[in-house]
Amino acid sequence: MALTLTHQAHQIIRDHFDAENVAHSFAIDATCGNGHDTLFLLELGFAQLVGFDIQDRALLATQERCKNYSVDRLTLVNESHSMLAETIHDLKLSSHKLSCVVFNLGYLPSGDKAIATQSRSTLEALDQACSALANGGLISLLCYPGHPHGVEETADLIQALTNLDISGAFTLRRYDSERASATTPVLLTLEKHAN
Ligand SMILES: C[S@@+](CC[C@H](N)C(=O)[O-])C[C@H]1O[C@@H](n2cnc3c(N)ncnc32)[C@H](O)[C@@H]1O
Repeated sequence: MALTLTHQAHQIIRDHFDAENVAHSFAIDATCGNGHDTLFLLELGFAQLVGFDIQDRALLATQERCKNYSVDRLTLVNESHSMLAETIHDLKLSSHKLSCVVFNLGYLPSGDKAIATQSRSTLEALDQACSALANGGLISLLCYPGHPHGVEETADLIQALTNLDISGAFTLRRYDSERASATTPVLLTLEKHAN
């Protein structure tokens, strides 16, 4: 059976990092939602995890899903991911230890569809994530061009990520689901090169 793009993103992250690397670095879930990605990153073994969401109910769901993991490893932030750089600074986390940032865009499944990620703040967060990411680090972005905001957001992200790829400092990879169309989800990954 074909993997969903969410599972494919997890598989790519799992294959990218070795146990030593995750044990000595931290990860960010830029859109906690129901906490599936946060739980995956904790299970993988990142020393610290910072999760963002602008909805209380998402952070509560994430906290509940991750309740078997030490609270010392997980910091949930009720702010936009456009506060990424400031939060890393405030938490005194060392940015050269940021290895992985996961964006699962759009709206909370079974939530209010009007509360969805927006192109502008997603691009701000991406820019901050790219600057803070350690060499060899990985950003994954699951985009949903099937809803109104998602069309613009996906197009803007592909443009920004393509420019980063052309700069030579990053490698962009794209994964489509089976029977891909203009409205099916798209998984994008960005790997930061070692100097
Ligand atoms: C598709 S859901 C994420 C799914 C989630 N990663 C999971 O594993 O269940 C998208 C989430 O992004 C959140 N969101 C929307 N705008 C945001 C922003 N500017 N900063 C952080 N989270 C945001 C929404 O509240 C929603 O919970």
